[in-house]
Parts: sequence; structure tokens; C-alpha cells
Amino acid sequence: MKTKILIVDDEVDVLDLMRELFESRGYLPLTATNGVEALKVVREEEPDMVITDIRMPDMDGMQLLEILSNSYSNIPVIMVTAHGTIETAVEAIKMGAKDYILKPLRLDEILAKVETIAQLKNLERENEYLKSRLAYRFNFKNIIGKSESMNELFKLIHDVAPTAITVLIQGENGTGKELIANAIHFNSPNVNKPFIKLNCAVLAETLLESELFGHVKGAFTGAIKDKVGRFELADRGTLFLDEIGEISPNMQVKLLRVLQEGEFERVGEAETIKVDVRIIAASNQDLEEKIREGTFRQDLYYRLNVIPIHVPPLRERKDDIELLVYHFFEKFDEVYKKNIKKIDPEVLRALEEYDWPGNIRELENYMERAIVLNKTDKLSLSDFPETIGHKQKTVVEFNENDGLVGAIEAYERQLILAELKSNKGNKAKTAQKFKINRSTFMSRLKKYDISSS
Ligand SMILES: Nc1ncnc2c1ncn2[C@@H]1O[C@H](COP(=O)(O)OP(=O)(O)OP(=O)(O)O)[C@@H](O)[C@H]1O
Ligand SMILES: [Mg+2]
Repeated sequence: MKTKILIVDDEVDVLDLMRELFESRGYLPLTATNGVEALKVVREEEPDMVITDIRMPDMDGMQLLEILSNSYSNIPVIMVTAHGTIETAVEAIKMGAKDYILKPLRLDEILAKVETIAQLKNLERENEYLKSRLAYRFNFKNIIGKSESMNELFKLIHDVAPTAITVLIQGENGTGKELIANAIHFNSPNVNKPFIKLNCAVLAETLLESELFGHVKGAFTGAIKDKVGRFELADRGTLFLDEIGEISPNMQVKLLRVLQEGEFERVGEAETIKVDVRIIAASNQDLEEKIREGTFRQDLYYRLNVIPIHVPPLRERKDDIELLVYHFFEKFDEVYKKNIKKIDPEVLRALEEYDWPGNIRELENYMERAIVLNKTDKLSLSDFPETIGHKQKTVVEFNENDGLVGAIEAYERQLILAELKSNKGNKAKTAQKFKINRSTFMSRLKKYDISSS
């Protein structure tokens, strides 16, 4: 991009001279004959620097300088002044001018000063760019969380990202697996190399194979031209294999080979292709469970699970809810230009009580919906679905015949039933929540005649 220089002078001859000079050196000159006109050009064209004469009718150079250094302090200004008025030049520098040029004009002097300023300006720009890149690198600033488990996760990402090591991210739906995969790639040395994603769940086996490895024209019906697969596209970069638990046994074998040997063939072709790809895989299914069931290969699992990252569900890190709520509040308030001022504390309490089966995606959706629906300046419980803020409290009536012990037992029974239900009947998990071991828990179930099917 050419450096834009605005020249302000009431003498048309001077303007012509400078325009020619700058054009011949690859700059883009703009001109104005007084301060008012100059401000208009500044607003419309955003020049990279301004060279202005001091003595002009209407608004003079000093006034122009004052406005520029107040409102456009990023635009450097060079003052042009006649011989014998060096005091004015000094004053201009004090007011924020970058430099001054004395009349009569010497072209080489003008060029040298402009050159210096242009270089400084480029350096500044580069610097800002580098700084923003660095900030992004070490911040993961779009991943919100302050809970202990999230802090551990940040540390892990920080350690793992700069390597080329294979990572397996496991966690429930909507916990942020893809977000983490992104953070790993964008903090890796591959950041400028390709980052290719593939959701393994949405494709039938044959399609998945040609998506991953590519095919040649005529390899199967519908293969009307050659296709490059994701592994080739991701060469020297990162390949994110989402929902890895969904791939068929056949594809598992093929995948294992690429992971082991770094080579494969396109569908319908004998030639072997070698690639160098970092793999990040993700699954919302329990892969160890799938191994026990016999639907996922153990050897593939070991190849993928070099660094396991477990993303905890939101209900196990409720400390993060408040931060997330405010994060999405600001985001959607801005997107929908609502200017909602605050959140009713009742909302926050209710959101922290809820169990979030859909995790952060669910929270994000509820916040978006609430902000769209809200018509006041305060987000309130009525903007949320009914399930929020209506947690069933476990209560028992006191029955005199049973006494206190009986009442406590009745309460314990209800509590166990409710908790089992919210854990979808998973006994190990429920016992863990109650912080008792499994056999103690089983004896409780027996005592209260709770069916253990
Ligand atoms: N810690 C977080 N901070 C901010 N936003 C988050 C966080 N975790 C997840 N999100 C947001 O929640 C949504 C779901 O996240 P993501 O798609 O990464 O989840 P996932 O685990 O891949 O889900 P699924 O298993 O359903 O594919 C996204 O919009 C994401 O930006
Ligand atoms: Mg996902």
C-alpha cells in the first residue's frame, strides 16, 4: 500500500511541485489549499502524514496542527515555515508536530524527512501487529474460565501446543473441545500452516475415506474428478478429527496406518503418499468404554491418546458460570445492539443452580435468546426458559410415627432417587457425587429398596 501524504499550502505552485516530487518517489500525494479543506481530506482519506504550511488564509497551519494533534494524534505532521520564523517552528514542535521544513524548499531535505517518518510509521504498525499476535498467543482469550480445572487445562494447552504431539480431547457435548483444538493449533509453530477440520460423524464410510485420503477420477461411481484428501491438505499443519469415536472398524485400520507410518494411498490409486501432519482428535463418547464394547481399536486409541485432555462438564466447574454469563452478555448485547444495562442477581443464582446438560453451548444459546427477547434494560429470569430457576427441591413431610430417624431416612431415600435420576441411573457417578464409595452406596440402595437395574 502506498503511503498517503496530504500537502496543505495556499500557493498552488508549491502544491504542484510537491505533488510531482512525491508521485515520482512512489508516494500517494493529496492536496488542500487551507486548513478547513485539509480536515475534510483527513476525515475522508486518512492520510499517513500531513505536510502543512503555516501561513494560510482561513484556518492557518498552527490551528490545523492543534486539531490534528488532539483528534488525530496518530497522524504525524510536518510544518513548513519561512526563513526567520524559527520560533514558530519550535512552537509547532512543542504542540506536537513531528518535524519542520524551512523555506525556501529543498527537495532532498523534504524527501529525507518524509522518508524517516514513513519508516517510523511502518515500524509502529508492524510493532502493533506483532504485539497483538503475541497477546493472542499467550492469552487463549476466547476461552473463558477461572475454575481450578480450567486453569489446569490452560497450563496443559500451553505446554502441549508448541510441540507436534498428538492430542485427544474428550468431553461432553458443548464443553469447548473444538475451541481447545483451535487454541492448540494457533499456539503451535504450525500457526501459519493449514488447519484442516473433519467431522467424522457426518459421513458414510466410503465418503469418509475419500475425504481423508482423496481419490482419483473414476475410483467409484460419482468420482468425476481427482480429489485431494484432508491429510494431504493438512500436510505440515494440523488435522482436527472431530467425533473420532464414530469411525467404522475398517476406517480405524486405515487411520492407524497413517498415524503409524505417515503414509496412505488415494482411493483408486496405488501410489503411496507421505505426509507430515499433527493430529488433534476429539470425542464426546467414552472411548475406553467403546474399547470394552469392542467397537473401538485399542491400538488406535493408544496412538491418539498420547496427550489426553479431559474437558470437564460445566456442572463440575460452576465457578466459571458467572464469567461465562458476563462474557456472552457483552458479546450478544453488542451483536444485537441492545444496550441492556445489567443482569438481575436472581438470574445469576438460577443459572448457577442449573445442571447444564448441554454445557457451554446451552448456556451460550440461552444467553443469546434472553438478550434477543429482552425489552428492558435489565436481563431477568423471565427471559430464560422455564427450566431455569425451577430446580425441584427435595422435601419430606415429618411423620410423627417415624420420628426423626425415620424422617432422615425418608429424606435420604428421596435424595438418592433424585440424584440417580439426574445422573441417568449411573451409580458410580452418583456415589462419587455423594463422596461415598461404591459398596457403601450399593448397601444404601439395598436398604431403601431402590432397584439396582
Ligand atoms: N470456555 C469457553 N469460553 C467461551 N466460550 C466457550 C467455552 N467453551 C465453549 N465455548 C463456546 O461454546 C460453544 C460450544 O463449544 P465447542 O463447539 O468447542 O464444543 P464441543 O465440545 O466441540 O461440542 P460438541 O461435542 O457438541 O461438538 C462454542 O460456541 C464455543 O465458542
Ligand atoms: Mg465439537
